[in-house]
Amino acid sequence: MNYEQLFSARGKHVQSPRLAGVNYELTFNWGYPDPACLPNEAVLEAAERALRTHGQDPLQYGGAMGNPKFADQLVEKLRRDQKMDITRDNIMITSGSMPILGLMCDLFVNVGDTVIVEAPTFLGAVRVMKNAGAKVIGIDLDANGMKLDQLEAALATLKAQNITPKFIYVIPNFQNPTGLTTPVERRQAIIALAKAYNTIILEDDAYYDLRFRNQSLPTMYSLAGNTGVVYMGTFSKILSPGMRLGWAVGEAGLIKTMSTMKVDGTSPFSTHIAEEFCKEDGLVNNIAKVRAIYAQRCEQMQDALSEFMPAEVKWTDPDGGFFVWLTAPEHVNIADAVTKARARGVDFQIGVPFFADGRGQNTARLSFSYVPFDQMARGIQIIAESIREVM
Ligand SMILES: Cc1ncc(COP(=O)(O)O)c(C=O)c1O
Repeated sequence: MNYEQLFSARGKHVQSPRLAGVNYELTFNWGYPDPACLPNEAVLEAAERALRTHGQDPLQYGGAMGNPKFADQLVEKLRRDQKMDITRDNIMITSGSMPILGLMCDLFVNVGDTVIVEAPTFLGAVRVMKNAGAKVIGIDLDANGMKLDQLEAALATLKAQNITPKFIYVIPNFQNPTGLTTPVERRQAIIALAKAYNTIILEDDAYYDLRFRNQSLPTMYSLAGNTGVVYMGTFSKILSPGMRLGWAVGEAGLIKTMSTMKVDGTSPFSTHIAEEFCKEDGLVNNIAKVRAIYAQRCEQMQDALSEFMPAEVKWTDPDGGFFVWLTAPEHVNIADAVTKARARGVDFQIGVPFFADGRGQNTARLSFSYVPFDQMARGIQIIAESIREVM
């Protein structure tokens, strides 16, 4: 059967495969939570409570939200921690936050439309956008996020061609892959540019709660006055990626439209367990626990990098999150270093897939979230030796 002849315009565009997960002895490759941060026992107890006290509801079909009480808890959490001025009408619960990227493309992006992203950015997001047929324009980052002059020039050039980008995708806290945080003034300036050029912002705040130092910053959603920004978040890094729980926040009308488009019903099973888990400060305590673990892991990686990396290699020192971004001198081909490190059982990720346009040969992302504590230094030493060899 020639299926392609029946494909939609979008189907014909599907081209960016997921990166394959191969198991090496030590991996600095993936944004996986530390196994010690996945609270088996507490989830088991929450599941038992949910099944004993919620009747058949966890096993029954639910609405688009799954369990509405969990939505209430989430609104409370976002009001308390993220300081967002929202109600239930502003929130949609999803199966992890990835589907929000898909819904944003379904709602806004026709094949050939333009979206703007940070360069580098989360490769999963670029995959979804490219598969939707979007032209993805990357704006370089400096230490404070998207370069404003470059963003403005790109918006002006597009406008001259009568093109309005459908959205600007920003990860303002402890960005994946660089670990960088966009300060308030830069957030405000990006918002002002989005408004001036009639487009919106998709704010991906997957790591908001994992701040190790300095003050939490207001969300772009709040800074924009609760309009023109869709905010997305996830339980994957603060509770469990396996439970597949995420959320979108936006203006009530837009959230209603997105909820209507949403194909899957968010899992009643997961949302009932999550409700029980979050009660009596369960989530608050878990966030405090995992934040301390990742802070320690990050420090450990920074120490190992300082000890082993060649002097010419630079890296970021994030205020939170999972990732450090490494930049070697221009001529260094990190792909060769990855091959060498893999031969010794250590995996890490070259920076290229995080750019929409294939740059980044001399860069890498190192995840400090997953490698066993006592193997961190040895792993970094092997990566450093591999880079030194190809230099
Ligand atoms: C920036 C960012 N956004 C979104 C996600 C997707 O997470 P999930 O679908 O598990 O919520 C990730 C996961 O690594 C991420 O790093």
